[in-house]
Amino acid sequence: MGKSVRNDASKKRKVEEITTTANSADDVTTEENLKPPAADTANKKDGDSGNPYDKLRWITVTNDGEPANMIKLVGLKSLFSRQLPKMPRAYIARLVFDTRHESLAILSDDPTVKDSDDEIIGAICFRAFPEMRFAEIAFCAVSASHQVKGYGTKLMNLVKQEGARRGIEYFITYADNYAIGYFKKQGFTKNIAMPKGRYLGLIKDYDGGTMMECYVHPSIDFTRIPEMIQAQRQFILGRVAYKANSSKVYPPLPKDFRPNVEGVSRVNESAARAMAIPGMREAGWTMNDLINAGGQGKEADRQKNALKNEMLSIVRKLEEQQFAWPFREPVDTSEVLDYLDVVTEPIDLSTIEKRIRKGDYYKSKKMLHSDLTLMVNNCKLYNDDASTYVQCAVSLEKYLEHLFNDA
Ligand code: COA
Repeated sequence: MGKSVRNDASKKRKVEEITTTANSADDVTTEENLKPPAADTANKKDGDSGNPYDKLRWITVTNDGEPANMIKLVGLKSLFSRQLPKMPRAYIARLVFDTRHESLAILSDDPTVKDSDDEIIGAICFRAFPEMRFAEIAFCAVSASHQVKGYGTKLMNLVKQEGARRGIEYFITYADNYAIGYFKKQGFTKNIAMPKGRYLGLIKDYDGGTMMECYVHPSIDFTRIPEMIQAQRQFILGRVAYKANSSKVYPPLPKDFRPNVEGVSRVNESAARAMAIPGMREAGWTMNDLINAGGQGKEADRQKNALKNEMLSIVRKLEEQQFAWPFREPVDTSEVLDYLDVVTEPIDLSTIEKRIRKGDYYKSKKMLHSDLTLMVNNCKLYNDDASTYVQCAVSLEKYLEHLFNDA
């Protein structure tokens, strides 16, 4: 809501023109490993290693003047323009053909589409900032006929693998509302752990998008995630089996098994009876576990979960609204210096979502409503009445009435 930092919602994303030098002494990146393979030498391993990535044809391509690469870049520009219709075409062309940007593309094996636009199944266009060890993803798209087949995931894993190879620690991107879900599934988060000093001045904030980040662990083979998880699972199960005594088999309970529950309150009697069964205590169960697993605890949990889900769905509905953009993230008080002089209790949708997820912050929908009203009032308080921000606040206020009155 800080009028001095955010511009009009329709403002296009811009990447600041800062020249980077990739050859400082401590750079892991070298000229050689920065070079993408030529377009006609797509990566693909022969033979069946069992790894589906080895069968993929993929390339990284940049504007180096090579005719074969230029053909691929034209195809990439068409793919991104088709799949991202809200992005201005000229902007896509500028970044795809920018010599500092690269694109990693998965290519079709079908010889009938070779060198045509249809050869490109999907691609991610990114710019690496090697000396700051991060890269910014500009566009990511899979052609319509190949979507929901796992190519989006494979692309991202290949980009991460490529990034890790070059010493990149973080990928960041600005995701619009529709893409947030996809990026979350690829390990991106809204919590930015990369120190601000590394990206400030190199990339620009832009309205209508949420900045997301993914840490790239240098020792993970991103093309073998399922195998890695399977190996970890085996390891953990092995450790559990080593420690646990759950394999011990107890004799059947005698027919006249009547544990003594004298002195135990009526509501806890069944839990006490269960605790008396040989092996329960040894397996790690406690009275409290059993009480909570019983009727009372279950009902309380069920109600708590229902409230939590309802509140999350309210916040999700709000986030989807056109006028929600000023409220998605906290106002950056390091940029809007006087914000805290005016607004004493800052609040925003991401903070509210965190509070809901914590589980016990909002005891009722009324409490959620009062935080949302506070958010609207903060915006009205700080900004001019005629500003876009206040217009958004008024729309949000009306929408809240509709949401909470109809609920
Ligand atoms: N929102 C939420 N989840 C999404 C999603 C979206 N928009 N798109 C895909 N997913 C999920 C899939 O359901 C799948 O989940 P699963 O692993 O639990 O099954 C997972 O993300 C990966 O799916 P995958 O098949 O690998 O993705 P894809 O090949 O369909 O490609 C996009 C995903 C987003 C690249 C593709 O839909 C696309 O090109 N969209 C248009 C362009 C765009 O919006 N790009 C992103 C911003 S630049």
